[in-house]
Amino acid sequence: MTARRTYEVTPSAARLTRSLRDVGYDFPAAVADLVDNSVSAGAAHVQVIIEFDGVDSRVFIADDGIGMSENALVEALRFGSRRTYEATDLGRYGLGLKTASLSQGKSVTVVTRRSVSVDRVFVRELNLDLIEELDEWLVVAPKRSADIDRARELLGDSAGTVVLWRLLDRVLPEKRPEGGWARRRIDTYARRTAEHLAVVFHRFLEGLPDGRKVAISVNGEKVRPWNPFAPGEEHCRELPAQRFEITVGDASGTARLRRFVLPARTQFSSQDEFERLSGPLNWNRQQGLYVYRADRLVQWGGWAGIRGIDEHTKLARASLDFDTSLDPVFNINVSKMRVSIPPQLRQMIATSVNELCLAANAAYRRSSARGNMPLHLGAGQPSSTPSADLSLAGLALRSAAMQSGHYDALESILAIIRRDAPQIATALGLAS
Ligand SMILES: Nc1ncnc2c1ncn2[C@@H]1O[C@H](COP(=O)(O)OP(=O)(O)OP(=O)(O)O)[C@@H](O)[C@H]1O
Ligand SMILES: [Mg+2]
Repeated sequence: MTARRTYEVTPSAARLTRSLRDVGYDFPAAVADLVDNSVSAGAAHVQVIIEFDGVDSRVFIADDGIGMSENALVEALRFGSRRTYEATDLGRYGLGLKTASLSQGKSVTVVTRRSVSVDRVFVRELNLDLIEELDEWLVVAPKRSADIDRARELLGDSAGTVVLWRLLDRVLPEKRPEGGWARRRIDTYARRTAEHLAVVFHRFLEGLPDGRKVAISVNGEKVRPWNPFAPGEEHCRELPAQRFEITVGDASGTARLRRFVLPARTQFSSQDEFERLSGPLNWNRQQGLYVYRADRLVQWGGWAGIRGIDEHTKLARASLDFDTSLDPVFNINVSKMRVSIPPQLRQMIATSVNELCLAANAAYRRSSARGNMPLHLGAGQPSSTPSADLSLAGLALRSAAMQSGHYDALESILAIIRRDAPQIATALGLAS
């Protein structure tokens, strides 16, 4: 057999790095991808500092994780770092550090120390201007500067890593980067970043059952976890949890579903908590599935095509967890901002999701019936709104039929009631 001739075709560094800037990060998601690295490196503290200084504005992401040796640092700056991953690892592609950083600016510098005993600090930079000029995949040891000194200071005397973003061309406006508008933009990014980190890392901020816990601050302010399921609220109700075994091609693993009906406004411990739990997208759009990969939230809001969002089901939220072994099935993207729920799983969870929405609908109607109740009607007295009560009874029937696994039987019974006593079916809200 004759050997086939092969040709090495090295990609153009200048062109490829430029296109890799646009894999879909926004500023908060780019910072979150770097916090992923810090979490995977075992950090207990992560500081995000976003500083406005006109064209010299900069961002530091500093952690006290295990840090990197000199070789590891250079490998870390390779597009497609070579390494293997553990199941709890948040990394996957060997790209995040580079693509997330360069999506916001033209220079990323990493300052790192592997351990306290080895007192050496290593500093390397990826600089897009240089890569474009020379059209080569280059990493440089940058010249000393005030920013780099500051990064070293943030590292202190212990192990850890500081990532520094400079030349923030994607963050600052081209015109008047030193102006008030640019400053406000940076302030807005800082606020949105804190909100985003509070949501996506809430389990790490709260502390995981295996003991991992991370404290994050943005511009000196501690990020408080935002748990979509209001765990501290007395009237939050959980429906039975479920597990689903999934196999698609070579990938197999478990997905876990937990379903919650959150309390209505009047059932919340305080108005402030109700507002806080509303979340960045507000109650209506925060309903739905919250998809977690290795305990890190990657996608939320809406029902992944199972049903639409609806004012009446706004109290329904569910967590869907999957392991990294299912990455290929969930199609996690490079920026970790999107997954697609595999059709097989969507089908498996559809009934459970609909059951949750029925329960949330009932809770919503109960609360609005209470809200509409004339003031003189207290508990235990007959209600003056029988139709609201009857439709509640109808919902309770549906929900009970779902929970007992007899939904088909209820449908047969209803078909007879609709035929023989349509006015009763209508009064129960079960006419269709
Ligand atoms: N803060 C950090 N502390 C220690 N090591 C780090 C840190 N950031 C990055 N690294 C190392 O650099 C490597 C490359 O990081 P990068 O984010 O580019 O890819 P990844 O995390 O492996 O995968 P993904 O593309 O999914 O993020 C990591 O795998 C890790 O070994
Ligand atoms: Mg990463």
